[in-house]
Amino acid sequence: MPTPSSQPFCASSIIGTGSYMPAKVLTNDDLSKIVDTSDEWITTRTGIKERRIAAPDEATSDMAAEAARRAMADAGVSAEDIQLIIVATVTPDMFFPSTACFVQKKIGAVNAVCFDVSAACSGFLYALQVARHFINTGNRITALVIGAEKLSSLVNWQDRNTCVLFGDGAGAVVIRRACENEPEAQGRVLSTVMGSDGNLTDLLKVPGGASACPITPENVASRPNTIHMEGRETFKHAVTRMLEASQQALEMAGLSAKDVSLVIPHQANARIIGAIADRLGLPEEKVFMNLDKYGNTSAATIPVALDEARRAGRIKKGDVVLLVAFGGGFTWASSVVRW
Ligand code: UT7
Repeated sequence: MPTPSSQPFCASSIIGTGSYMPAKVLTNDDLSKIVDTSDEWITTRTGIKERRIAAPDEATSDMAAEAARRAMADAGVSAEDIQLIIVATVTPDMFFPSTACFVQKKIGAVNAVCFDVSAACSGFLYALQVARHFINTGNRITALVIGAEKLSSLVNWQDRNTCVLFGDGAGAVVIRRACENEPEAQGRVLSTVMGSDGNLTDLLKVPGGASACPITPENVASRPNTIHMEGRETFKHAVTRMLEASQQALEMAGLSAKDVSLVIPHQANARIIGAIADRLGLPEEKVFMNLDKYGNTSAATIPVALDEARRAGRIKKGDVVLLVAFGGGFTWASSVVRW
């Protein structure tokens, strides 16, 4: 493994992005035939119009591997170049092996070290920060950071409070060590801040199906292995923490909100995103949203949105991009990237 002695300042750069969304579309109207809801309620309260649902035989690692292939093609790197794979997910293929190990096998990244990160909807930015530590210290040169979820496997399709919110999909980035004496790399990660509050674990969780509450014949009917959320409380904390994290990440990068070219927030609710943009003083055209098409795909929202924003020409060389997330735990994180 290369371990440069690193005299020049070296940092992590996002050199490629990719995403994969499953083909099946589930619209709000489709959902209104399953639970007592309506397109009007879902659109007004969340901004979501439809979401993607993975095929029964499509696992999180299948979506993650396809997003990874697309990111590697975009970056112009081969699977053998990848030395680290981190998958952020709360819907792993299995408890173990890690989803990252399945991805390794599917893409043939024989030189990689692989593991998963669990930080719910903040997972991608947590994983990006972990990868940065490997890369900035010279321990690894090239890494894949993936956010991938099959949330349809954790949804209680009889609970209208939650089933309308979530969807499936995967996004990936290739990050590589780039030193100051090299030509400026695109997508340089300037700062990341992270936070957690374990006192609030009860507000957003999947309580059953693991060691604290295994599924038994007695409890299976109450569906403890599905998503439970206190929506209003979660909403309030999401706004506060995402705003705080954004401001801290900008400050750490020596920037302010007026320097931001585009904010790519976690895609949970258009009203949360609107509240944060307002408080940061960012106009609508500087805010990227695709939750109308995909709903909340947890750890996948940011890498999918980043990939779509790049491909749509919304990110140009020199742009400052603010990434910010909030999720179960509670967890939150924000990163500033200069393109
Ligand atoms: O990704 C991690 C972070 N997650 C989030 O940030 C999500 C944060 N929370 C939210 O986005 C919102 O709280 C929700 C979209 C989940 C809910 O919106 P809300 O405006 O907070 O609605 P509410 O939960 O206060 O419910 C209002 C009403 C209730 O009826 P009553 O008690 O006022 O009669 C609900 O039963 O809306 C009802 N309701 C629905 N009605 C139609 C809840 N879900 C539905 C539904 N269709 N799907």
